[in-house]
Amino acid sequence: MLSLRGITKTFPGVLANDHVTLEVRSGEVHALLGENGAGKTTLMSILYGIHQPDAGEIRLRGRRVHIRSPRDAIGLGIGMVPQHFLLIRRHTVAENIALGLPGERFVRPARRIEPRVRELGARYGLAVDPRAAIWQLSPSEQQRVEILKALIRGAQALILDEPTSVLTPQEVRGLFDVLRRMKQEGHAVIFISHKLDEVTEIADRVTVLRRGRVVATLPIAETDKRSLARLMVGRDVEFQVRKAPRTPDGDALVADNLVVLSDRGLPALRGISFSVRRGEILGIAGIAGNGQRELVEVITGLRPARSGRVRLLDHEVTNLSARALHEAGVAHIPEDRMLMGIVPAMSVAENLVLKQYRYPPFSRGPVIDRQAIAQFARRMIAEYEIVTPGSDVPARLLSGGNIQKLILSRELSGRPEVIVASHPTAGLDVSATEQIHTVLLQRRQRGAAILLVSEDLDEILALADRIGVLFSGEIVGIVSGAEADRERLGLMMTGQRV
Ligand SMILES: Nc1ncnc2c1ncn2[C@@H]1O[C@H](COP(=O)(O)OP(=O)(O)OP(=O)(O)O)[C@@H](O)[C@H]1O
Ligand SMILES: [Mg+2]
Repeated sequence: MLSLRGITKTFPGVLANDHVTLEVRSGEVHALLGENGAGKTTLMSILYGIHQPDAGEIRLRGRRVHIRSPRDAIGLGIGMVPQHFLLIRRHTVAENIALGLPGERFVRPARRIEPRVRELGARYGLAVDPRAAIWQLSPSEQQRVEILKALIRGAQALILDEPTSVLTPQEVRGLFDVLRRMKQEGHAVIFISHKLDEVTEIADRVTVLRRGRVVATLPIAETDKRSLARLMVGRDVEFQVRKAPRTPDGDALVADNLVVLSDRGLPALRGISFSVRRGEILGIAGIAGNGQRELVEVITGLRPARSGRVRLLDHEVTNLSARALHEAGVAHIPEDRMLMGIVPAMSVAENLVLKQYRYPPFSRGPVIDRQAIAQFARRMIAEYEIVTPGSDVPARLLSGGNIQKLILSRELSGRPEVIVASHPTAGLDVSATEQIHTVLLQRRQRGAAILLVSEDLDEILALADRIGVLFSGEIVGIVSGAEADRERLGLMMTGQRV
């Protein structure tokens, strides 16, 4: 029904899409795969009218169409569920869905649209209360609202850019049921994900992009995970990083009855206790918003504890500053790479010494030693295989995976005792993920205590020695990595003690 032909798009210095031809049929889920920076989002932004192609054409049911804006795309029956939802939190579901619909006044539209929301909800399995305010909804429910919004606007083709990264395993199954329903109703679905298990489960066909080009379009039945990974990155990928046995040593980090408030002044952690030993990875699983952020922040000195204590190697460190904790041996791999991990406008080299440039060997007194910094940067770039045109380019030009490697190399260069890693591979492709997992396991082997906070259960199951599940500010339970499974963790993530 929808075909992209010879789509080419360059950004300054980057050929993001290189003569991409892609055909999407009614009634299929078409997966789009590729490494970070392969051009997936760019291609979908062109289809949705956010970007204009330099060359190529788009055809809808055989007719050439010009999509100059998302409004054009919607008019042609193309919808997109954005990765970061664009809903207004204070407004209700119905108000959000009605917003911008032709013929609907924003004032009290709810009544008129509610029956339609219910009807479509029932038809596609997208149950959501039209009168609920967005802020009351879980990420999974907000996603349903975005899908409903597209369906009400008449979307025949729906683009989902990494939709499962905010969902529990059970919610992923729910989403897949919705997508199957959409297929039956004749919709076309374009599905982007870095998770190959999901792609092989839900997709009918798959297109793989590498460096802006299509390397293959295949029926899913004719391929498998391993071949898809090889097509994406051009080499074999180990899915299960080798985890050597390691008997943990004594406690490195101990949290004792921690109470921490959220930004709104409400209890975000309600008295949690745990310990992480040297040579051990403690995974913290849970759906976003259950206290993970506050936990990471209180351990790294970015948020005060209301009560309770934090101990680092037998010293009490509760409420020390971020800098004092860093110097005491706590490394932080933050959740938001661009906002907290790097200074985007500064060079790669400057970012690598961000926390150390005031000290020898990078400065003597007030004088900064540029050469020492450049030398250190070259070593880190080589050791962590950071792909960058040079150490003096702005860090913002690096891809997500390479920004993450930069942060990792900086944070780990001081040989920290404790590593707090928050969603360290979120949004990263299979190859970058593999490298980051390898580095974390090496540090565990050398005796670092690692607190790994992640929404990705596969990541937690692959790395963690013990797994704690956070729900509503409490640890629902801690299970050993060996006896944990996705089902059980998924239930615990919704607060059930199993
Ligand atoms: N607005 C922009 N300006 C300049 N360069 C851009 C812009 N958007 C994307 N790029 C570049 O185009 C290339 C393709 O990026 P794109 O976001 O399409 O990749 P992707 O396949 O979606 O990657 P990911 O898996 O990380 O989401 C990258 O090199 C990226 O840096
Ligand atoms: Mg993308």
